[in-house]
Order: sequence, then C-alpha cells, then structure tokens
Amino acid sequence: MTPEGNVLLELDDIQSGVLRPRPTPYVATYIALRIDDRNAGRELMRRVSSVVTPAANPTSPLADTWVSVALTYQGLKALGVPQSSLDSFAWEFQQGMAARAKELGDTGESSPENWERPLGTGDVHLVLVAVSPNDQQLETALDPARKAYREMRGIEAIWRQDCHALPTETEPFGFRDGIGHPAIEGSGIPGTNSKEQPLKAGEFILGYRDELGGIQRTQPEILGRNGTYVVFRKLHQRVAAFRQFLKVNSASPEDEELLAAKMMGRWRSGAPLALCPFQDDAKLGADRRRNNDFLYEEDDPAGFKTPGGSHIRRTNPRDASVAGVVRLHRMIRRGTAYGPLLPEGVVEDDGLDRGLMFAFVGAHLGRQFEFVQTQWINDGVFFGAGAAKDPIVGSKDEASSFTIPRRPVRRRLQGLHRFVVTRGGEYCFMPGLQAMRWLAELQT
Ligand code: HEM
Repeated sequence: MTPEGNVLLELDDIQSGVLRPRPTPYVATYIALRIDDRNAGRELMRRVSSVVTPAANPTSPLADTWVSVALTYQGLKALGVPQSSLDSFAWEFQQGMAARAKELGDTGESSPENWERPLGTGDVHLVLVAVSPNDQQLETALDPARKAYREMRGIEAIWRQDCHALPTETEPFGFRDGIGHPAIEGSGIPGTNSKEQPLKAGEFILGYRDELGGIQRTQPEILGRNGTYVVFRKLHQRVAAFRQFLKVNSASPEDEELLAAKMMGRWRSGAPLALCPFQDDAKLGADRRRNNDFLYEEDDPAGFKTPGGSHIRRTNPRDASVAGVVRLHRMIRRGTAYGPLLPEGVVEDDGLDRGLMFAFVGAHLGRQFEFVQTQWINDGVFFGAGAAKDPIVGSKDEASSFTIPRRPVRRRLQGLHRFVVTRGGEYCFMPGLQAMRWLAELQT
C-alpha cells in the first residue's frame, strides 16, 4: 500500500502477459508441452523463468513482446507439487476444462470427444505463449524459450497453434476486437472506460484484496502470489454460416451491417451502438479514447440502441439493471485469430479452419469465466430473455432466438445455430516469477 492507501502490485514478479493488452497488429504462438519427468520439468521451470518478462514498465513499447508460461493442474502434478498445495487451488482448475464441458455448453459438436488432440486429454502440462507486434520480434522472443525445452529428455512439445492479425485487423467474423480492457488498481495500465471505477487487484491477481474483501491464497502462499488463472479456448468460427444468416435475414447490404451490429453491440468498425445507434462511425470505432467510453442504463435501459442480448452487453452489462453484480464478473480477455481470412463477400464455406484463440485472465475462474459463459452467454434469464443464448458465441445445439427491441414492435429472429464451435481448451495457472523458481526448486 502507498501512504494514500493505494495498492502496490508487485509488477516485477507478475508475468507481463497477465496485465498488458495485446498489441495491434500482432502475431502469437501457443505451444503445449508434456512433462514426462519431474526433474526435467523443474529444470524447464528454471530455464523459462528467465525467459518470461515481468509486468514492470507496463507502458514501455518494448514490452509489447512477451513470453508467458502457464501450467495446468496436471502440469503442477507432473512437477511433483504436494497434494496439500494442489488442493488449495480453485476447484474448477483442479477439474480441468474438459471435465466442466457440460456446464460450459461444450456439448454436441463442441464436446471434448471431438476436440483437437491433445487438448483436454490431461497430456497438456505447460503452455508457452508468445505475443508480439511482428514475426521478427516473436522469433527473437520465442527462440530462448524453445531452446529451454528442445532436446531435453522428459519434455515433449505436443501441440502448437500460430495466430496472426488478419489483414482486416478484425476477428474472423469481421469485427474490430481487443477494445475493452478493465482498469485495475495498481497496474499502471489505464482502463478503456472512464465511467468504470478501477477494479480491485485481487479480481485478477492472487494475493491481493478483491471486490468482496477476500484474498485468494494458495498453500504455500508463494506458489499463488502474483499468479492468476488463464483459460485458453480454441474457438472455430463458421464465418460463411454467419454471413449467410445475415444475408437471409436482411433486405439489403446496409441491413446486414445493422443486423451484425445488433448481434455484437458494435459496428464492425468497433463503433458502439450505444454511441452511434443508427449508422457506423469508423472514426469513432478506431478512437481508443472514445470507443469504449459508455454505459447503458441512463439512456438505453430497454436496449433500443444496444440489445440486451447482444454479445458485448451480455458479457459486460456495465450499469444495466440485470440479475447479479456486474463488477464480480469482469475479466481480462484476449483474442488472437488463427487461419486464413474468408475473402469478403464469400458466403460458401471453403472448409478451412479459422477462428479465435480466446484467452481469459482472472483470479476467479468460477465467478468470472464460468459465470459469464454459463449465465450470460448460454442463458438469457439474467436480463429477462428466457433461454435465448448469445446470438454470436452461444453454444447452440438447438436453434436459439435473438430479439431486437424496436418500436412499435420488437423483431424476433429465430433459427440461430452454432456459429462458434469449441475445438478444445485448458484451464491453466500462470504463476509469478518467484513461484516459477519455487517450482524449479521443489524437492519432492
Ligand atoms: C469466437 C468467439 C468470440 C468472438 C468472435 C468474440 C468477439 C468479440 C468482439 C468483436 C468484442 C468487441 C470488442 C471489445 O469490446 O473488446 C468482444 C467483446 C467481449 N467479449 Fe467476446 N468474442 C468471442 C467469445 C467470447 C467468450 C467465450 C467470452 C467470455 C466467456 C467473451 C467475452 C467478451 C467480453 C467480456 C467482451 C467485452 C465486453 C465489454 O466490455 O463491452 N467473448 N467479443
């Protein structure tokens, strides 16, 4: 704490990838490793702890490139972490993402038996993530990380996913992404919505006070301190099906754009319906100081501008009156695109795999990620819309509906199917740098 009572985050111990918004444009690589020998795993932790950059100097342009290291529960086990320590982690993390599939809506095509191997099998122990504004810097950052495990007996690289910004600088459905970022006490990184009070650091980092006054701790404390939970999900996007849906339900190309905006809550340019409900404003969409600076309740309680069921209003209702306390369900979120762009205008599926590597960062897997996924994305009860799911990312095994509030009568669209299929994912823990060294020195 400072004399003024402000929280001081130990930024030199927190991994850079935790707090920092990803650069735009970007390239990113995810590498999954399996630890077959605990001593090799510990040596790996020692080596990678010197490759990971800390979050200190949060606004330095050089820190736009980073390598992060995260471990699954099975990974902590493979390193020989004692059971009493393992038991002190969040129970959802102990279960792992595949075991939570039913609750998360990972059913039907999205269910773990259809996931890309080895995701969800228990073999993924450690995930290395490198993010950078360009290929050259990515390679420079990744090289020492690769050297740390290459040719090491007992460590196997078992999966890799490369991501890159699309030429349109949007996610595959065509929307600008990476706009909103919560303000976090003590992080030194400004939030993007001046109307949102900074969130307590304990919402995102273990070892600090959270919004409910509690502090998440592990046994021993050094293992969890300055760490956080990270959720990785490989989400395949059915871009052609999404475009077809817009076309079939619109009278003109302008109508298609409006329908897309109503489903997302933002025009494709990023401009929010809350600030420009009738037509796109590309300048506003690109303006980082203005494009996230809004609330809903005062001038749009019924969702005439931004439907309550749109993706961004569901996943962060801000001040809108909904069941629940919104501040308890905030998250740091990063999306990086994989696969080729589906050329503009194409509405036939070309069979290629494209989508988003979705990453969540937060100290509360249950009340942040799982709550948003189950209650806000895959249900509509919280704002009075029955069972209607998120029109874009909802897990729709059966057709869902989407309502656009309108005068004199609302518009209700039926027959929305899955536009996003889960290809796999993992619940991970991203330890602080000291914790990485603690893991390296384990003697069990
Ligand atoms: C392929 C799947 C997804 C796509 C294409 C997608 C796309 C987007 C886009 C374009 C935005 C607006 C940009 C921004 O506000 O930064 C956004 C915002 C957001 N998304 Fe998603 N998203 C996906 C999945 C998810 C999932 C699975 C979650 C949570 C479990 C989620 C949570 C959020 C949140 C919290 C916001 C910020 C809302 C706000 O603060 O206004 N998204 N998403």
